[in-house]
Amino acid sequence: MVFKNVQLDRILQSQGFGTRKECRKAIREGEVKVGGEIVRDPFLEFDATGLTFEINEWEWEYAEQVYIALHKPANYECSHKPKHNKSVYNLLPDPLVIRGAQSVGRLDVDTTGLLLFSDDGQFIHAISSAKRQVTKSYRATTNLPIDDEQIRQLLEGVQLVDEPEPVQALTAKRVGEKLVELVVDQGKYHLVKRMIAAAGNHVDQLHRFAVGGLSMEDGSLPELDSGDWCYLRPKHLALLGYP
Ligand code: URA
Repeated sequence: MVFKNVQLDRILQSQGFGTRKECRKAIREGEVKVGGEIVRDPFLEFDATGLTFEINEWEWEYAEQVYIALHKPANYECSHKPKHNKSVYNLLPDPLVIRGAQSVGRLDVDTTGLLLFSDDGQFIHAISSAKRQVTKSYRATTNLPIDDEQIRQLLEGVQLVDEPEPVQALTAKRVGEKLVELVVDQGKYHLVKRMIAAAGNHVDQLHRFAVGGLSMEDGSLPELDSGDWCYLRPKHLALLGYP
């Protein structure tokens, strides 16, 4: 879509910088630069497509919809109202949260790794929908050594309480004495922990390193330290099979 002739106050509002009134005030007070120049007229029109602007020295780019990858640390809850920990939303800049970026599914408070966010409802649905089956790759550190029998059970399917049918891992690989990598294509509550428990072991630590073809470990994403985030570009979305 092309967004020509859009007032600067409307552009800022659409990107999560506050109400129209707040955006107008920031512009009038000289906090906003476009093309390196301060713009004090909130009604000045720009072509929003591809527009970059600065607010208080912070460079932003206009995006009709936003797609983000976060390296989630442990002890953060995937909730706007966390009960006992901090919220993953504290790790994103306010404008992204204000414009409505939501996590795509959830990771447990103690799970680390790749967590996606967007304000595109279709994207969230496509990636988290049970029907579409975007794969998720996890590495679990277990309490007991991983043996061949546990791998066999994970691959053949384990029966979980409250599930009508056994759940199978698409792949399950022992990569250390107490380390297993598995790929699943479902997004049920505590899925990996429950699968490993049903196979007779216990997860001590869980890390998600990939969603679909988007991995934190093969160079498909910029390197993200724990707590860091980056924008996802069309090439990243393509690795998720989106659109
Ligand atoms: N499976 C789990 O058990 N926990 C997660 O956070 C993700 C998948």
